[in-house]
Amino acid sequence: MTSSPRIKIAPSILSADFARLGEQVAEATMAGADYIHVDVMDGRFVPQITIGTLVVAGIRKATALPLDVHLMIESPERQINQFADAGADIITVHIETCPHINRVVQMIKDKGVKAGVSLNPSTSLSLLDDILPDVDLVLVMTVNPGFGGQSFIGSTLDKIARLRTELDRRGLNAELEVDGGINEKTAPSVVKAGGRVLVAGSAIFNSRESIGNAIKRLRESFA
Ligand code: DX5
Ligand code: ZN
Repeated sequence: MTSSPRIKIAPSILSADFARLGEQVAEATMAGADYIHVDVMDGRFVPQITIGTLVVAGIRKATALPLDVHLMIESPERQINQFADAGADIITVHIETCPHINRVVQMIKDKGVKAGVSLNPSTSLSLLDDILPDVDLVLVMTVNPGFGGQSFIGSTLDKIARLRTELDRRGLNAELEVDGGINEKTAPSVVKAGGRVLVAGSAIFNSRESIGNAIKRLRESFA
């Protein structure tokens, strides 16, 4: 066995206090977060409408960390240039929204941004077969996207493990990010299955403890 890989933590601001967003992003940055995960929803692909490019541009000023923008929107190709210009470092689109995924991935890369592709819990990994060598990140959803605070869907662990095996077998360096229901109880099995970037919203931004303590506790859970 090689030494254990470093696991990245990506706090999702969906659960942050939006009245104090800049402060909370700065706090997560100070606490050792690796990315800031930004959930963009359009009220069509998923039920809620959340945030757009103006908020991304605002957060850009509050942190030097990479902004990991998760687009849960229909026709994401119409928004890529704007999110890149607003300061996104990673843009992830859902495979369910992209019949022409090669074109979309290329559009993202042409803007000098890392390209991610995500899939819902019930979407087959086989849809990624051909695009896998071209992406910088794969985001496996472990809840149905749309809301923070949902319970982790246990059957997705097998998908994470199969994707880990496939990436390693093909010698691909795409990051394997996992999103939904991540907390100190679920994180250890996600890491064991091969997840390398953990998105966490409600486990990090909550009224029980400081952002710093929450990140520390999450890290300790799988150390
Ligand atoms: C859900 C979003 C997630 C969300 C996760 O659709 O993509 O990033 O914020 O929230 P938790 O960690 O609370 O499940
Ligand atoms: Zn997300």
